[in-house]
Amino acid sequence: MTFKGFFSSTAGIPEVSDVPRHIAVIMDGNGRWAKKHRLPRVAGHTRGVGRVNEIVEACVRLGVGHLTLFAFSSENWRRPEDEVSKLMELFVQALEREVASMHRHGIRLRIIGDKSRFHARLQHLIHEAEHLTACNERMTLTVAANYGGRWDILQAVNAWLEDHAGNQVITEEALTPYLSMADAPEPDLFIRTGGEQRISNFLLWQLAYTELYFTPTLWPDFDAAELDRAIAWYRQRERRFGRTSEQLHVG
Ligand code: IPE
Ligand code: IPE
Ligand code: MG
Repeated sequence: MTFKGFFSSTAGIPEVSDVPRHIAVIMDGNGRWAKKHRLPRVAGHTRGVGRVNEIVEACVRLGVGHLTLFAFSSENWRRPEDEVSKLMELFVQALEREVASMHRHGIRLRIIGDKSRFHARLQHLIHEAEHLTACNERMTLTVAANYGGRWDILQAVNAWLEDHAGNQVITEEALTPYLSMADAPEPDLFIRTGGEQRISNFLLWQLAYTELYFTPTLWPDFDAAELDRAIAWYRQRERRFGRTSEQLHVG
């Protein structure tokens, strides 16, 4: 396991910078976008995939180190079968089309989530893409697919137990390296498009001290200017991490 450092908003006070080091996004609202335009839901998903490039490029330009996108939750299997298979198809197509260019742009691609449920071709493409881009350092793009925050915590505990049979106590510091996002700082900024104000089992552990931004804009309409608005909002936040406001302004 590669583990480059221990980043924890509860064990220490993270550095705060103007540009978020890590942005995590729930790309929600594709279905409602399609409905609004009298199109089938899948058309919304296709448009949604189209938006990803623009936001990735904007983040690279801004110097954001980590962008994490929630693409498919562990609960999204509950959707109609044809929608699920279309989403899988779009995932395959996106990997086939975009990985080479991401690699050229110095982007490291990671997929987090339980990949064992994906069909063999998709698993293969994921493996190839991660392998090809593993050493890129400009930005890490993490796509959460068949991901659930609870799944993540449980798989980390189980992996830790496997490595430490007989040990009785698990600490935050011990568990962190086993979580899917171990090599990224915790998100500074969380964005959810589509108007819902919930986490929907996304990065439960990592969002402990993240600034949460909710916008009614549907994901297929979320462009670079919207991202700038979210970051401008983020810059106004006072990040206290449990301290008082006065403590922040001493000296
Ligand atoms: C997000 O858009 C994409 C996925 C969950 C795969 P939705 O499909 O959830 O869109 P709404 O919420 O129905 O509008
Ligand atoms: C969350 O959106 C998951 C993704 C965007 C991938 P959902 O549309 O599945 O969330 P709920 O069901 O409205 O909470
Ligand atoms: Mg939704």
